[in-house]
Amino acid sequence: MSVNVKQLAAEKAVEYVEDGMKVGLGTGSTAYWAIRKLGERVQQGLKITAVATSRASEEQARELGIPLVAFGDIDSLDLTIDGADELDSRLQLIKGGGGALLREKIVAVNSTRMIVVADESKAVETLGKFPLPVEIIPFAWEWTLAQLNKLGCSAALRRSGDDLYKTDNGNYIADCRFDTITSAPELALSLQSIPGVVEHGLFIGIADMAIIGKNDGSIEIVEGENHL
Ligand code: 5RP
Repeated sequence: MSVNVKQLAAEKAVEYVEDGMKVGLGTGSTAYWAIRKLGERVQQGLKITAVATSRASEEQARELGIPLVAFGDIDSLDLTIDGADELDSRLQLIKGGGGALLREKIVAVNSTRMIVVADESKAVETLGKFPLPVEIIPFAWEWTLAQLNKLGCSAALRRSGDDLYKTDNGNYIADCRFDTITSAPELALSLQSIPGVVEHGLFIGIADMAIIGKNDGSIEIVEGENHL
């Protein structure tokens, strides 16, 4: 029987959730398993409140009976568990493959701790093979895309079937193919300076720990510089 490595990593992360915590729920196929396990623990009596980072995660949490609150109803969160598209040894991440990067970043930076859950294919030496998702506003998207291309990538608007993909916030996603990102902090600064860019999928200095599920059934835990 093959191991579900995403489930393995996600369920390990849920062990860090304690009674009374305010928990950020990530988005994607790995975060799905964390939410599922959290639902099980809530049904067994765990007392938490949660904030979801997407409509999909909100729906899943609601179905499992996880008590949800709006982001505006809390001051901060204790722990966020979320997936990643790529992570390096310094716990710099690329996120947004599932299109939820804006809410994911807002929730993560407002959390005392962020645990990234991933299978081993997501761990890379240098970020950039995965096209970097950048959320942009629909107005003047052609111009914004051109500015992104000037940073040395090939940027393309994400599609959903015949239509353009729209985020939960009503924006577009530009997937930016860099191949290699030599300095994530420098690139983050350049991206932030482009009007029209709402947020980008580089998460730098945000994750405290990564729990990586391996194909042999083991788990690797990587602690970042800002680990408590
Ligand atoms: C969604 C994300 C996801 O965490 C990321 O895409 C990883 O997803 P998965 O666990 O399905 O591989 O950033 O916006």
